[in-house]
Amino acid sequence: MTKSNSQQPTGQKQSRPQGTVRYDHSGRVVLVTGGSNGIGLSICRGFSSAQAHVVCADITAYPDSEDHNVVFIQTDVSSEVDCKRAVQAATERFGALDVLVNNAAIQPASSYVRVEDLLMDDYQRMLAINFSGYTFMAKHALRVMRDQQSGVVVNIASGQAHRTTRGVPVYGPIKAANILQAMQWGVEYARDGIRVVSVSPGAIDTPLVRATLEAQGGERELSNRHPIGRIGKPEEIASAVLWLSSQDASFITGTDLAVDGGLGAFGAFADPYTLPNED
Ligand SMILES: NC(=O)c1ccc[n+]([C@@H]2O[C@H](COP(=O)([O-])OP(=O)(O)OC[C@H]3O[C@@H](n4cnc5c(N)ncnc54)[C@H](O)[C@@H]3O)[C@@H](O)[C@H]2O)c1
Repeated sequence: MTKSNSQQPTGQKQSRPQGTVRYDHSGRVVLVTGGSNGIGLSICRGFSSAQAHVVCADITAYPDSEDHNVVFIQTDVSSEVDCKRAVQAATERFGALDVLVNNAAIQPASSYVRVEDLLMDDYQRMLAINFSGYTFMAKHALRVMRDQQSGVVVNIASGQAHRTTRGVPVYGPIKAANILQAMQWGVEYARDGIRVVSVSPGAIDTPLVRATLEAQGGERELSNRHPIGRIGKPEEIASAVLWLSSQDASFITGTDLAVDGGLGAFGAFADPYTLPNED
């Protein structure tokens, strides 16, 4: 029997111009938390290529030691003292702070449980890094931006902030809070020349996702759950962040952007796509 909802493209693939954007962030000071791996690393590299002064605040060292546009500052975002020090390091070295990207977050494999089996250590670490870390960084960054009367904060949230699944009793709810943080801070500081937004990625190929692929059903299955048929690349999140934090996004604040290959649009009632090698 033939399926009525064809899952195969019907047209012939042509090599057409796809269009591109070049970003210029020269002279801007950008602070990225969790910038040493995954999405944060792509964001640091993107801003560095766009000629910004980048400060990477992470617990692990920045890998591109020869990139002179990026300064690394050892930071544990669960400590308010460290968050304050990271903001100070940026302003003392470069005299301003134009963009904060709240990106550092964890999702330990052991946290994929029912809430009744949640370990106190996993709960407290996720709360401290994924929620309090965003708050402390914003607290100190927004003081600087308020004095400047300019700035942009980008909270990296998640598709799991909008829809949920089994076994993620804390990670998703905190990601939803990251969106409301952005909305609240956006409203609070809108008249101070400051914009605050969030970005909700679908599954992106990073160490965080690689470490929990099994818990998410495997790579082939996870890719197939995205209408676009693959998981995303860290650079695809970085592009959205570079645009949102630029003047080209000057009327965008207090809102969330899904960068998820159609994941959020796909209904639970929808006929699932056939796994590629089952055709
Ligand atoms: N990868 C995905 O599929 C995906 C999907 C949706 C949302 N996200 C979100 O994107 C962001 C980045 O995720 P990723 O996949 O790149 O993660 P990752 O694990 O690959 O990288 C996270 C980085 O944060 C750093 N970090 C961890 N704890 C820290 C702390 N206490 N202080 C400072 N830095 C710390 C790590 O050292 C690492 O460099 C997170 O907010 C995550 O929730 C990721």
